[in-house]
Amino acid sequence: MTDLQSKAFSTRAVHAGERIKHGDYTPVTTSIVPSVGYLYESMDDLDAVFANKQPGYVYARYASPTVTALETAIANLEDGEAALAFASGMAAIHAVLLASGVRSGSYVVSAFDVYGATYSLLTHLFADLGVRTHMVDVNDLAAIEAALKESAPTALLVETISNPLLKVADIPTLAEMAHHYGAQLLVDNTFATPYLFRPLNYGADYVIHSATKYLAGHGDVLAGAVVTSATNRARMFETNKLVGGNLGPFEAWLALRGLKTLPLRVRQQCDNAFQLAKWLATRPEIARVNYPGLITHAQHALSQRLFRGQGSGGMLSFEIQKAKRADVFRFMEALQLCLPATTLGDIYTLVLHPATSSHRSLSEAEREQVGISEGLIRLSAGIEDPNDIQADLEQALKVLQI
Ligand SMILES: Cc1ncc(COP(=O)(O)O)c(C=O)c1O
Repeated sequence: MTDLQSKAFSTRAVHAGERIKHGDYTPVTTSIVPSVGYLYESMDDLDAVFANKQPGYVYARYASPTVTALETAIANLEDGEAALAFASGMAAIHAVLLASGVRSGSYVVSAFDVYGATYSLLTHLFADLGVRTHMVDVNDLAAIEAALKESAPTALLVETISNPLLKVADIPTLAEMAHHYGAQLLVDNTFATPYLFRPLNYGADYVIHSATKYLAGHGDVLAGAVVTSATNRARMFETNKLVGGNLGPFEAWLALRGLKTLPLRVRQQCDNAFQLAKWLATRPEIARVNYPGLITHAQHALSQRLFRGQGSGGMLSFEIQKAKRADVFRFMEALQLCLPATTLGDIYTLVLHPATSSHRSLSEAEREQVGISEGLIRLSAGIEDPNDIQADLEQALKVLQI
């Protein structure tokens, strides 16, 4: 299909990256190519492929056909020139920080409401390597501008929709600000997905995904991806040849298969999350619901504008009134359909207690600064009938006796 880019998102999700020729046949569905090595009749050809002067494959740590198919599809869906797949979302974030030029002595400005491992990667590992990170509230534009001005950072890192508080980042404004102060904008688009929002169209330099989540969507594969310009991709490719955080072909195949139903799944997940958020907001046991689709959400208008009214995502979080850790644990144990498993973006509805899982690596003081309380629960809406999920939450809330 030659002009796939002009087609609708759901058409691109089904066809992008497919129909790769294999000798004299063209499979409808991309095949898994597990081979690590690749043969050429002419050593000149092999030499040219090694030198990136000719397309082809030499060794699976450099590239392999099934992974290329996934990269082509993800780049297409994010409206990017090129993508590079990784073994996990964290491998992708690490690679983007290096690719953007972060080195010993560099500054990074980062939203403090980000996935816990991202926070710790910056404040522990990168800090040990001499990188200083200034943590800011993603919605405090004055504080972000002050941090950019003061530290002249290499990169500004944010999540489009934050984990776990569901803050929505004003990506067009942040891109302008970052570039004004000479920083590159790195956007983790895992929660929003390219179905709702494509940050490269609004000035982001790199888009990051934990493809483990919505892109793959079925809770059976760990994967990461970065979408960026062809030039940035070439730089990351050279680094990755040395550090080897590659995705394998079997995982790439599962992720590519999942990608085809991304629009169908995310539409349903948005509807389910909206219904659950509205209902939770009426419950006496719940002190607060964080969901951009609610009119009470501080960035409701911004999210409607950025996501063009297509939905507000499948993620929400809520706080149980005056709950202690033990109350939250009893509530989670009482759930029968919602799964208390440590992931998100799957077809199953999942619940998680950030303080003891995704944000466990933060100190109590750090969690308090970010706003992650003991009573906070994160919910990833699945594609089940939302009334069944609502009934499950309702029966589990009874254990709280509020
Ligand atoms: C927003 C976000 N980014 C990145 C990651 C890391 O992804 P992975 O677990 O695939 O390494 C996660 C994991 O939960 C996440 O929620």
